Amino acid sequence: MTDRYAVIGNPVAHSKSPQIHAMFAEQTGQDMSYEKLLAPIDGFVATVKTFISGGGRGANVTLPFKLEAYDLANQISEFAHHARAANTLSFSGKEIHADNTDGAGLIRDIKANLEFDPAGKRVLLMGAGGAARGILLPLLGARPAILIIANRTVDRALQLAQSNQNQPDASQTVLSGHGYHDLSGQQFDLVINATSSSLSDALPPLPDGLFAPDSLAYDIMYGKGLTSFLAFAEAQSAHRLADGLGMLVEQAALSFHSWRGVRPDTRPVISALRQL
Ligand code: ATR
Repeated sequence: MTDRYAVIGNPVAHSKSPQIHAMFAEQTGQDMSYEKLLAPIDGFVATVKTFISGGGRGANVTLPFKLEAYDLANQISEFAHHARAANTLSFSGKEIHADNTDGAGLIRDIKANLEFDPAGKRVLLMGAGGAARGILLPLLGARPAILIIANRTVDRALQLAQSNQNQPDASQTVLSGHGYHDLSGQQFDLVINATSSSLSDALPPLPDGLFAPDSLAYDIMYGKGLTSFLAFAEAQSAHRLADGLGMLVEQAALSFHSWRGVRPDTRPVISALRQL
């Protein structure tokens, strides 16, 4: 019987995950199906249980269910534990294993696809919500020299920085939390927008002169064209701009690998999606 996988969300119609996993499956010769499941807002757990009874082997989880996916699992990876959120579930007997591949997917995109190595660099992470929390540990693992978390609600940035000071991966990084007004006069090699501001075409109050000469501006959002953050970065002469499409494909590849034990080639998939 063909192994079943799915992406579960609400809404889910826009999800590119079925296309991505279909390309991975074809490329690696895996016999599997991958569907979209729209769960009622108050029916995530019931949807997962029905899917498991119907032969589901694993699922990606998208908004707004990443916290519920984490709570439902009885085995939790370090990245999911740290993010307190899961985007990948694997089912085996009574076991539900939760992982979070978002942050590792982002770092793979930055390092392998964009050929930018954050090691020893000055990095600015904008945002202190769920998305930023999911990125933080893999980002520290990339060993930047300086990592500043900036957030509109300054306390959340301070708290996120403080609660990660003692991570073993933070030993080579000066990590601190700030408000946007503290950024004046500072320059960064990598600026990541992990706020949800792009959803409403808003822009956090960033000062001029933020981007160092060879800098990379990365918005984790995709499918919105040039977001307000990327338009700002372009106007401020950031050296390179990237949206979150590469991250999307890389997080999917990490999920696929954990389910199927094979690593798909992500580059042709990213290129194919860019042309859609
Ligand atoms: P997500 O799971 O997408 O991270 P979240 O946990 O609600 O969602 O966090 C949203 C993040 O985007 C927060 O850091 C939020 O800042 P606050 O903590 O101050 O609310 C940030 N954000 C959203 N809209 C923003 C805007 N217009 N300007 C600046 N920051 C914004």
